[in-house]
Amino acid sequence: MREWSVPQGEASLVIGASGSGKSTLIGIVAGLVSPTAGRVGVAGEEITAMGALARDAFRAANIGLVPQTLHLIGVVSVRDNLRIAQRLAGRVVDDHAIDAVLGSLGIEALAGNKARDLSVGEAQRVAIARAVVNRPRLVLADEPTSALDDANCDKALALLLGQASACAATLVIATHDRRIRSHFTRTLEL
Ligand SMILES: Nc1ncnc2c1ncn2[C@@H]1O[C@H](COP(=O)(O)OP(=O)(O)O)[C@@H](O)[C@H]1O
Ligand SMILES: [Mg+2]
Repeated sequence: MREWSVPQGEASLVIGASGSGKSTLIGIVAGLVSPTAGRVGVAGEEITAMGALARDAFRAANIGLVPQTLHLIGVVSVRDNLRIAQRLAGRVVDDHAIDAVLGSLGIEALAGNKARDLSVGEAQRVAIARAVVNRPRLVLADEPTSALDDANCDKALALLLGQASACAATLVIATHDRRIRSHFTRTLEL
């Protein structure tokens, strides 16, 4: 059986053509999709052995996800999107933590804006903020740069790497975007 691991705190790229299974793998590692075979461990816990409720709780507390389609809640503010992420992780709402992460991404002025009014680049920063606001052990990002021009591609990558390293999280990026390959020494080719 093929084995793959990323040491805690390191960054890795999962690269492959469209349809090669990158999003499926991200879904399995996030505990959103059950594999038909094999096992997945995250931060020392085997999530593929957990029941659905335990897996949901584990994901909320330990994994930050930046999905390909961002899934922000459009009708509420940026701040409320992050507060909801805190509540779902079983934490009390902590506006100081929210202000700190928005500030580190340069979007503190957007806290009161409704998510549906954001530009694509702003929305992506908010999705990154939501992924790291609970200081997860693992950050998963699915095609975070594929829709971006070169300048914004570099920015998004720098933000993801910076935010993951600020919380000592492991970072796994799934992509078919070969522009970012040179930034990673660890890659899994599907
Ligand atoms: N829920 C599903 N059930 C069955 N097949 C699926 C499902 N989701 C995706 N697939 C198929 O699995 C393959 C990999 O898809 P995906 O993980 O989305 O690839 P990628 O993200 O690399 O483009 C594709 O052939 C896709 O059609
Ligand atoms: Mg995909």
